[in-house]
Amino acid sequence: MTDGVEQSLSAAVEALNRARRVAVLSGAGVSAESGIPTFRAADGLWEGHRIEDVATPIGFQRDPRLVWKFYNARRANARSVKPNPGHLALVAMERHWVGRFAIATQNVDGLHQTAGSRTVYEVHGSLRRTRCTRCGEIRDRGLDPLPDLPQCEGCGAMLRPDIVWFHESLPEDVWWNAQQAAAECDVLLVVGTSAVVYPAASLIPIAQQTRDPGATVIECNLTRTDASQMVDIGLYGPSGIILPTLCQRLGIEVP
Ligand code: OAD
Repeated sequence: MTDGVEQSLSAAVEALNRARRVAVLSGAGVSAESGIPTFRAADGLWEGHRIEDVATPIGFQRDPRLVWKFYNARRANARSVKPNPGHLALVAMERHWVGRFAIATQNVDGLHQTAGSRTVYEVHGSLRRTRCTRCGEIRDRGLDPLPDLPQCEGCGAMLRPDIVWFHESLPEDVWWNAQQAAAECDVLLVVGTSAVVYPAASLIPIAQQTRDPGATVIECNLTRTDASQMVDIGLYGPSGIILPTLCQRLGIEVP
C-alpha cells in the first residue's frame, strides 16, 4: 500500500471512529463485483439502448414491450447474483452503528437488503416492484419472471416497473428519509457512484452543509469522479476490498 493510500485509510478510520451517525450513498459500483454491470462503464447497461428508449416515460409510452423486455432482463440478472463483500461490510457497519446507520441507494437490484442491510432508502425505486399506470397500485413481485406486458390484477391497466425514470421525481417519503440521514450523519460514505445524477448526488452537499461542522465525506470508488473535488477523503479501489478493510481497521467483524 502506498503512503497516500495508507494516509487516506487512517483518516477515514479516524473519522468513522468519531462518528455517532453514519450514512451511505451507494451506486452501481457497489454491485459491480456481484456481476451487475454499471451504467456508465464501457460495458454499461444502456449499451444497445438509448436512455430515452428504456428509461423515460416517453420511451415507455412509445414502446412498453421494449421497456419491459429491458427490465425483465435486469430482473433475471438480479435474480442470478449474490451480494459481495462490499455489501456485507455495510451490513456489519449497520450492526455496529445500530439505529444510527442508513443507506440511500440509487441501485434498484435489492442487493443491500439481500445482504442483510435494514435501513435502506431506494431513491430510484426497485426492480422487484410494479406500479399500475392507471390505479397507481404498487406491488412487490419479487424477482420471478413477469409476462412480456404485465397487467394490473385490479383494474386491468398496464403495469410499469416501479423505477424512477429520467424526468420523473423521486418518491417523496423515501427521498425525505435519505435527505434526513445525510443531514444528520457525521460521516457520509459515497460508494460506487459516478455522482452525476441529481438529486441523488445532492446528498453530498446536504451532508456537508446542513450542520456546522458538516459531515466528513469519504468517497470509495475505483476511480476519481465528479464528486472527488467535493469530498474530504478518497479511497480508490474496489468497494469489495475497501469496505471490508475499513471494517477490519475499525475492529468490526464482517459476517
Ligand atoms: P454509474 O455507472 O454512473 O457509476 C458507477 C460508478 O461505480 C463509477 O464511478 C465507477 O468508477 C464505480 N465502480 C465500478 N466498479 C466499482 C467497484 N468494484 N468498486 C467501487 N466503485 C466501482 O452508476 P451510478 O452512479 O449508480 O438512475 O448511476 C446513477 C444513476 O444513473 C442510476 O441509479 C441510474 C442511472 O441513470 C436511474 O435509473 C434513475
